[in-house]
Amino acid sequence: MCGIVGYLGKKPVVPLLVDSLRHLEYRGYDSAGIAYLDDENLFQVYKACGKLVNLENILPEAAGNGTESSSTLHLGIGHIRWATHGAANEINAHPHTSNDNQIALVHNGIIENFYELRQSLAAEGVQFSSDTDTECVVHLLNKLNKASDGSNFIQVLQQALKQLKGAYALTLASRDNPDRLYAVRNHAPLVIGVGSEEYLVASDAVAVASHHNKIIYLKDREIAEISPEGVRIFNLDGEEVQPIIEPLNIGPLQIDKKGFKHFMMKEIHEQPDVVRNSLAGRLVGVDQPIDLTPQVSNNGSDPTAILNQIDRIVITGCGTSFNAGLVGKYFIEELVRIPVEVESAGEYRYRNPVVNKKTLIVAMSQSGETADTLEAVRQSSQQGAKVLTITNREDSSIAREADIVLSARAGVEVSVCATKTFVAQIIVLYLLGLSLAETRGTYPTEQLQALKSGLLKVPTLIESVLSNPEVVQPLAKKYGHARDLLFIARGINYPVALEGALKLKEISYIHAEGYSASELKHGPIAMLDEDIPVLSILVPGLVFDKSLSNAQEAKARDARSIGLTTTDAMVDQAGPLEDTFEDILTIPQVPELLSPLVATVPLQLFAYYIAEHLGKDVDQPRNLAKSVTVE
Ligand code: M6R
Repeated sequence: MCGIVGYLGKKPVVPLLVDSLRHLEYRGYDSAGIAYLDDENLFQVYKACGKLVNLENILPEAAGNGTESSSTLHLGIGHIRWATHGAANEINAHPHTSNDNQIALVHNGIIENFYELRQSLAAEGVQFSSDTDTECVVHLLNKLNKASDGSNFIQVLQQALKQLKGAYALTLASRDNPDRLYAVRNHAPLVIGVGSEEYLVASDAVAVASHHNKIIYLKDREIAEISPEGVRIFNLDGEEVQPIIEPLNIGPLQIDKKGFKHFMMKEIHEQPDVVRNSLAGRLVGVDQPIDLTPQVSNNGSDPTAILNQIDRIVITGCGTSFNAGLVGKYFIEELVRIPVEVESAGEYRYRNPVVNKKTLIVAMSQSGETADTLEAVRQSSQQGAKVLTITNREDSSIAREADIVLSARAGVEVSVCATKTFVAQIIVLYLLGLSLAETRGTYPTEQLQALKSGLLKVPTLIESVLSNPEVVQPLAKKYGHARDLLFIARGINYPVALEGALKLKEISYIHAEGYSASELKHGPIAMLDEDIPVLSILVPGLVFDKSLSNAQEAKARDARSIGLTTTDAMVDQAGPLEDTFEDILTIPQVPELLSPLVATVPLQLFAYYIAEHLGKDVDQPRNLAKSVTVE
């Protein structure tokens, strides 16, 4: 992941780099660093471990402001790190510089052949100071630059890049060309904000949005040379390519917790409005057809024709997006009666999957930048399948490559732990299922109308859960010191059990697993004793009785059991529920097929309060990043 930035222009460079990095902090927080050319044409480098604020604390006040008139050109690069190769320490922090301080570079991605490159450069006498894969790039460039006549740095870059394997976005500068900033993209996002005589390179358009309203989206294997005269783009074969400058339509990232202690809690509370927003204009009334007009149709695609011809759906994504996809499988198969498979994008892309032009690939990604999901999209397109993405970022790499883009419309999600985007993605999958069922006539009209009517009520149901979030707090205190915790459910709430466990793991670092309640007896039950609480999700419907039996089986092994059920079940089944569970959380009555949208909310709160109680960094949990652009 990592976030990289670069600036060329006449503004004080350090504050600009720091501000841009702040917008990329969601990409990693293992270390931060900047380098800029000072008035003597020397690179000044500052690095600090941990979050950006640690870097800000060590920057001299006047750093990078320049001492000359405002006509002076400033150049600098910056980095936010999510460690892949080498520990999260100051030595491994970027920028990396060549031994003679001639070239400085920041990198996002992984250089897969770094070991061979490092061995061969070290054999030639190059001194390595870090354990990163990145450092070999700066030394390789320096070596090739020295061997050239110094007149064509683009050629040097082309030679170097041809030797690199892997995914990378690079931003770099050389003291030989103090008025030139270079940017390279290969399977990692990179954009260039274009201003009046100034340019801002960044891993994400959000870092550019507060400064510029014009943007260039670099393509894979392109090199940009940025100078006061403008941006020139070359491919790896040395051919010059015409830059496409597009309007930048996104606003600056609003970083505001709106009175909540953490972004995660703010985003949990936004869910009723997120659902309303995601339904708006798409589901307008129970007797109106679903309107799934895409935000974008690429490659001249006709969404209606695509949806009419498919006979199979493959949903792919990672983490929470994968879990949302699993909920979609249950819903769409029930309504549309076509096979829906769900597969982790990282597995899917290396498996030579069987797809054809009648297969719809649904790529789920909040960020639209997840490397595995992006590659799954590319591979599926090459095999002739049509790709629909459900994403929260219409300007993302996945959105730019998919045939059809359906926006999740959840608004910016800052917390690394995804909450509102899970719910928003499920809503869009449900709309897709409803729309397909309507056009194909595969589900009784009355039941479709009941589902639509139920969906319109979901915001109020979530509001009701959120009206008293504190009911979850005592449970969080009671169970927050468990070493392991199991979440079990069956049917359409099985993915909710997976999501509940993922939330807890990622922000509290407690070992948690989600299982199908039916699977418990096939292995996990052996672990159970009084030290492992089991949280069961039970919603009246097809699998309620079976799930209750599975919860009782857990209790019989002395597990402390928590139930998450509905208020109507608490009336109809009070005896068995109270007998089975030590503690019970309730959600309002909700149709089983829609229940994941509501049942997930108390689990988000449960994870939140446990993490809070344990004093963890809720919004930026250790080792994680919001956008995973490495494989
Ligand atoms: O941006 P994406 O939806 O593609 O991200 C996928 C996962 O990295 C993401 O859902 C991750 O699992 C979250 N941290 C979960 O809270």
